[in-house]
Amino acid sequence: MDEVIIKGLTKRFDDLTAVDHIELNVPEGSIYGLLGPNGAGKSTSIRLLCTLLTPSEGTACIGGFDIIESPVSVREITGVMPEESNHTLYSTMSTYENLEYFGKLYGIPDAEIPERIEELLNFMGLWERKDDPAGELSTGNRQRLALCRALLHRPKVLLLDEPTSALDPIAAKKVRELILSLAKKYRQTFFINSHNLAEVQRICDRIAIIDKGRILLSGKTKELQSKLQASQNFTIRVTDDLEKALSIAKSMSFVTSAEKEVDSLQVTIEDPIGNNSTLMQSLLSQGVRIIEFAEEAATLEDLYLDVIKGGVNQ
Ligand SMILES: Nc1ncnc2c1ncn2[C@@H]1O[C@H](COP(=O)(O)OP(=O)(O)OP(=O)(O)O)[C@@H](O)[C@H]1O
Ligand SMILES: [Mg+2]
Repeated sequence: MDEVIIKGLTKRFDDLTAVDHIELNVPEGSIYGLLGPNGAGKSTSIRLLCTLLTPSEGTACIGGFDIIESPVSVREITGVMPEESNHTLYSTMSTYENLEYFGKLYGIPDAEIPERIEELLNFMGLWERKDDPAGELSTGNRQRLALCRALLHRPKVLLLDEPTSALDPIAAKKVRELILSLAKKYRQTFFINSHNLAEVQRICDRIAIIDKGRILLSGKTKELQSKLQASQNFTIRVTDDLEKALSIAKSMSFVTSAEKEVDSLQVTIEDPIGNNSTLMQSLLSQGVRIIEFAEEAATLEDLYLDVIKGGVNQ
């Protein structure tokens, strides 16, 4: 079942179309990553989904509720971490009180609130700071608190705008593990904006790439990555005569780019299965001694850069 269904969702700010007829489906229990450059429309999409903004056209359904017709129900079943989440905390209230207030607002039974708060604050390493005013926390700790707040009422769907952008590497890893376990164990659905491509590659089972309000590419992370396998990068190290190896590589019709690095060649080979051994044989037969001929795994970063530059056929 699709937990989030986005249908022709559009947002215009005067002449600017920030979100342009996007169509996306997010299955229950999946972790969906929305990637794109600055100003692409990622945060606007999240603001639309969490009903902070009204669409100019189109709509979306979350957990079966339409964001235009049933915004209250949508808010009940979603947890949101907006881009400016640091500013949406009550700075004079303590860390604990922020969560307590929010828990009451969301109708969590009074008896359960302290237990849930303690569990989350402990997990996020904030328990020692529970009595400090939220306004006195560091940026990263405020981001941790905002994440606790998004999770507190155990929503079915989480809309997180760059949830780990201010976190140190250890905290970011913990959050990634938490997201993975919640999706798996409780089938909570995550829709995450991020600039951290390595992070998205690790946790998101599906991604979409957005630019200028339009979805350029979307699908399962693994399948999209395999699109890149049509041409592949290789690192070639030789004992000496890097120049000779470079000119041999450049002479091959299937080598689309060959560059010399400090002590290696970086070569892109079209249809690498077969062609890579042709290049290898050619180097060996002309007396080049190869130390390493290594394939580089296609990363989400390659895909992202290709799509943003318009290189991948969609
Ligand atoms: N309230 C607003 N009024 C006018 N224009 C807006 C408003 N909110 C966003 N925009 C514009 O909409 C476009 C998309 O902005 P958005 O914040 O969604 O981008 P983003 O993908 O989240 O970027 P970033 O990676 O920098 O966070 C931008 O051109 C932005 O200037
Ligand atoms: Mg943004």
